[in-house]
Amino acid sequence: MVMWVFGYGSLIWKAGFNYDDRLFGFIKNYRRVFYQGSTDHRGTPEYPGRTVTLEPAEGEICWGAAYKISGKEDKETALTYLEVREKQYDQKAYVDFFTDPVASKPAISGVMVYVASPDKKLNPNYLGPASLEEIAKQIIHAEGPSGPNRDYLFQLEKALIQSGCEDKHVSDLANEVRRTLLESELARS
Ligand code: SIN
Repeated sequence: MVMWVFGYGSLIWKAGFNYDDRLFGFIKNYRRVFYQGSTDHRGTPEYPGRTVTLEPAEGEICWGAAYKISGKEDKETALTYLEVREKQYDQKAYVDFFTDPVASKPAISGVMVYVASPDKKLNPNYLGPASLEEIAKQIIHAEGPSGPNRDYLFQLEKALIQSGCEDKHVSDLANEVRRTLLESELARS
């Protein structure tokens, strides 16, 4: 049996495991939100960063990349790797993945995706909604072992634009981060 994994955050631009195929497409009834706190990749326990998670949203779609992993060894290696990398995401969901916006049937069913739930008992790092300005400020100041939080945001924005699937929440946030950075640079000069 082959395994498919859907990535909607850093997994879009950095898989980190061997795969046989990569498709760009979307899942239904979810939206991508910067509501997950990151203390292990893009922030620290003292100053958490923000990464994306999925929020159920009837009628909305979330674009991303689906990876096909076939060989037994590749599947085991990928899963072991992902369980560490995505350890702050407390849930795995199995979803329908579509490549054609007008198709009623999914291209692939049972695609695995990591989700960070809003349940603070299961997911103590969850941060939840905040104003665009607040989220932008937090992203500007956070940095973790995987690099600055702002790079995560800019890479995600770029990967989505390059795939022809700009996400308004991501672009609005990236614009707000750029605006705030420019403002503080001007204030210093
Ligand atoms: C994902 O990319 O699918 C999960 C979130 C992340 O690792 O950025």
